[in-house]
Amino acid sequence: MCGIMGYVGDKNTTAIILDGLAKHEHRTYDSAGIAVIADGKIHETRTIGRISKLAKKVKEEHFSNGFGIGHTRCATHGEVTENNAHPHISSDNKVVLVHNGIIDNAQEIRTDLEAKGITFHTETDTESAVQYLAYVYEGDPKEAITKLTKRIRGSYALVIMFSDKKDEIWTASKGSSIVVGHTNKEGFCASDPSALLEFTNDIWFMDDNELALINKDGCKFFDFDGVEHFKETMHLDWNATMANRGNYAHYMLKEIHEQPHTVAQTLLGRVADNKVDLSNDLDWTPEQAKGWKRIHFVACGTSHYATVSAAHIMETFGTFDIRTEIASEYSYRNIPIGPDTLAIFVTQSGETSDTLLAARLAKSKGAKCLVITNVRDSTIHREVGDALITPAGPEIGVAATKTYTAQLTMLVLLGMYLAKLRGNLKEETEIRLIEGLTSMPAKLASLLEQEQEENIEKIARNFADAKGFFYMGRSLAYPPCLEGALKLKEISYLLAEAYPAGEMKHGPIALLDKDHPIIALVPKNILWEKTMSNIEEYMEKGSPIIAVATVEDEEISRYTKNIIYTPETEPELFSFVAAIPLQLFAYYIARQRGCDIDMPRNLVKAVTV
Ligand code: M6R
Repeated sequence: MCGIMGYVGDKNTTAIILDGLAKHEHRTYDSAGIAVIADGKIHETRTIGRISKLAKKVKEEHFSNGFGIGHTRCATHGEVTENNAHPHISSDNKVVLVHNGIIDNAQEIRTDLEAKGITFHTETDTESAVQYLAYVYEGDPKEAITKLTKRIRGSYALVIMFSDKKDEIWTASKGSSIVVGHTNKEGFCASDPSALLEFTNDIWFMDDNELALINKDGCKFFDFDGVEHFKETMHLDWNATMANRGNYAHYMLKEIHEQPHTVAQTLLGRVADNKVDLSNDLDWTPEQAKGWKRIHFVACGTSHYATVSAAHIMETFGTFDIRTEIASEYSYRNIPIGPDTLAIFVTQSGETSDTLLAARLAKSKGAKCLVITNVRDSTIHREVGDALITPAGPEIGVAATKTYTAQLTMLVLLGMYLAKLRGNLKEETEIRLIEGLTSMPAKLASLLEQEQEENIEKIARNFADAKGFFYMGRSLAYPPCLEGALKLKEISYLLAEAYPAGEMKHGPIALLDKDHPIIALVPKNILWEKTMSNIEEYMEKGSPIIAVATVEDEEISRYTKNIIYTPETEPELFSFVAAIPLQLFAYYIARQRGCDIDMPRNLVKAVTV
């Protein structure tokens, strides 16, 4: 997924853009480029590879002042070459732009313009936009851009400069996100809001079919017919330090370590006196809650696995008819959805297109919709309205960690609150779980102590050459296996399968051997004996065992020496204490294997296509 940074102001434009691009480094990219306009001329530098390489190249060419745009490209149309890297400049050298998204009718526009004698220089779809703009430009940028938006089809966040318009940056957005900010005679735009945090927390999220003009005096917003409108700024309660790696080797490790804090933050204001209360977030009445006969959780990836844990927990309260659905399937099946459905969409980024499409479907069928997201005012939040915002702060590592436990926390609170509104939450259950949740930050902190981490690192070192892993647990200990296996797959590129321990014998047992270790999740208070009897059987097939067991479980050492102990907790809350060991295990395996942990191959932080 490409990244964009734009700047207009009196500071070192090049440095600010390069720094802003570096803040997008967690997005997969293959090449990068920057263009600055100074003295009416476009100065451009592009390169294949890292932003650090671009920075060296830019220095050699000595340009720094002016106003400019930068881009990190993840190739879709055209190979990974310097020539295909953005920014792209029109043949008459008057317009320069960067683009995220895909222009569907690029070829048609190109053929038209080539017939008019315009020469194209790249293989990209983006070039059709810049050449078309130059073709229709008669000195009025807004007029030319509105013409462009009527001519192109597809999804785009475009950031555009005209060489004869000093200190002006234009953006156009449709189906691809971009944020804009302004402070003290400086204007910015970026793909990722965290790139603007060191300048301002008050930003504008561009809507679909919207244009913006950014200059030193401020920002103006227009629709695609060029009509200006007022737009409220959104205040981001994130800070720049949250988006820094600090002394950690990777963002993922830093974010794993932030979890005691983020879980505590999520509880804040929602629990008091051993009671759950979400009335500050939701204006639901008991009558409404009783009217929802079906609960649909809809999400992708880690967010989906958080909902699977939540559904297992909510089942224990009784009376809920719950489905946990993968968003990319939800929209294409004939699942009954109606006004008696409460559809809950969980998405860290708030930009995942499958989840967004599923939300639109549920809304159109009259379901009551709610979003749980980490990004306030993200697209799904704006479209759905009702939301619970997880206060995990920006998550930079592609592999979700702290947002997963923040989602878990919010989901457990929501499940309890709903049950309470429906009159189904026993007082002793509420007290027991709230006590469990409030003691959770301390328990998570104990899992991050140096000794614990060293033990996990050592186990990971011993197993880094395995061909694949099986994660097993039963009942409430099964959903965390799904998330643990996903973590390992995405950052270490090893096959990892999660199975309910009792299900292995129905086929996958055939795969067990010494090269396929089993990670057995065996908390003392969740079907310990049944799980261990399964594990014993699987050990006979030669698979080594790594046990995630409850502290002081002495019996487990009869089965294996590879033990990761977790603190005792309520069975319903086991997913929390399982999360950190499994995240650390995946992290250290990936580290042993020399993988690019924060930017795993083929993955992006938000899947917006
Ligand atoms: O932003 P979302 O929560 O909607 O993202 C969903 C998945 O793409 C995401 O969880 C993905 O699986 C992560 N890479 C997991 O670490």
